[in-house]
Amino acid sequence: MSRTSDLGDYLDFLRKEGRLVETGVEVSPILEIPEILRRIMYGGYGKAILFNNVKGYPGFRVVGNLFASYELLCRALGVGGLEEAGARLFEPVARPPPLTLSEKVRSLGEVLGLGKYMPKKVGRAGFTSNVLEGRDARLDRLPAFKVWPRDGGRYLTYPLVHVVDPVKGVVNMGVYRVMLHDDGGGVVHWQAHKRGMQAHQDAERRGEHEIPAAIVVGSDIGTLLTGAMPVPYPIDKHLFAGVVRGEGLQVYVLDNGVPVPANSEFVIEGSILPDDLRREGPYGDHFGYYDMPDRRFPYFRVDRIWYRDDPVYFGSVTGKPPLEDVVIGKAAERLFLPSLQTLLPEIVDMHLPPYGVFQGMAIVSIRKRYPGHGKKVALALMGLGQLSLTKIFIIVDEDINVHDINQVIWAVSSHVDPQRDVLVVPNTHADELDPSTPVPRYGSKLAIDATRKTPEEYGGRDWPEEVEVDEETRRRVDEKWPLLGIG
Ligand SMILES: Cc1cc2nc3c(=O)[nH]c(=O)nc-3n(C[C@H](O)[C@H](O)[C@H](O)COP(=O)(O)O)c2cc1C
Repeated sequence: MSRTSDLGDYLDFLRKEGRLVETGVEVSPILEIPEILRRIMYGGYGKAILFNNVKGYPGFRVVGNLFASYELLCRALGVGGLEEAGARLFEPVARPPPLTLSEKVRSLGEVLGLGKYMPKKVGRAGFTSNVLEGRDARLDRLPAFKVWPRDGGRYLTYPLVHVVDPVKGVVNMGVYRVMLHDDGGGVVHWQAHKRGMQAHQDAERRGEHEIPAAIVVGSDIGTLLTGAMPVPYPIDKHLFAGVVRGEGLQVYVLDNGVPVPANSEFVIEGSILPDDLRREGPYGDHFGYYDMPDRRFPYFRVDRIWYRDDPVYFGSVTGKPPLEDVVIGKAAERLFLPSLQTLLPEIVDMHLPPYGVFQGMAIVSIRKRYPGHGKKVALALMGLGQLSLTKIFIIVDEDINVHDINQVIWAVSSHVDPQRDVLVVPNTHADELDPSTPVPRYGSKLAIDATRKTPEEYGGRDWPEEVEVDEETRRRVDEKWPLLGIG
């Protein structure tokens, strides 16, 4: 049963699972709450925490570590693994074509069934009546965190930044942190490769000086997850939220034309000003380093803030892994595996190691068929969607379990001749947060082909035979094993 009606519904689920700590101890969103959230994740408690007494913010509760564990997230979304949700988009088209009439009817039903994931507009009745306007319409009315001592300010750390794409009319909804500005507005940190920045550049090209926008804080768990998912443009992010949730999202269209989830805890209505670039950072980010200071990002002007009765503010924290973002990274890995396999059918499995922080490393197993196949897959992935921001790709054969780092190390150690199997692609685009690149956003990529080699790749020789015990010995030892008293 999917827990996707709203955030309160998910909190009830966590409570029943014994995975929600609730506290009345007074805590500050400035440094204190972030440190508590980090200690919970580093301590491996796998729990969310609801703060009922937030210093300076009476009436506003704060929740953290909503993505406390991957298994919990799957249970809340009613799936055994997120591949199941990811397959929903492609299932109807990735089957043999229907031939009989009954197959055709069933297949048509399945394609039309995608309609159940479409967003549904609801009227004013579904929306909140608490509004902050005029001088009160300031981001610091929300319990925004200061996450690390040398951060440049306070941030909304899990905002769903909404803009309607000016070209296709689809909804972009990305988790891009927003730094609070002294004048009550914010600075939106959408990075160069993200959909938000694409909308920004499209608006500039069209000579537009204002992008109608909304920032949502707090929604159901499937919609929150979708905000951080690299959904390929131009798939509507509200539609994708429906796919993740297993049912269409109810949306309310704000006066500025931007649709937002009707189950939002807070909605900040306003505009992003593409010409008004302001200083952003430093901020202690996913790699565990402060981002470069003095970078400029667009300003968000707040027009009004809506919130539910008794709203719950959700903030996330970043830093060295493993924090809750590694669960979000795992979710992306599983959710997008089916679409990856649709594009590259030779892919068997993929692992984005948690300590590689989303974009650092991808290990991919393939069903190898021809010489050069390992590098072909690596080169394809280097240019594919947000996976293209990954720095290091390791390609292994299908019998290697990509989730077992020791098996991967064995494959790299015994199958790789560096001169032949390592590919460094210089001067490529790079993840904006990667602290190692010579210039921000521009660096290089590494592919390691750790597959077994074909004769063409192996100087015309056959690949050596791997050791394997014979059947007869295996059977005899199986019989004697219990008698040996080993275990
Ligand atoms: C906690 C958290 C914070 C994030 N902060 C940012 C950010 O400040 N800027 C950014 O571009 N991406 C950030 N991301 C990653 C984006 O949410 C992710 O790339 C997503 O795919 C963006 O949406 P888009 O693909 O529609 O552009 C963050 C992710 C998480 C989990």
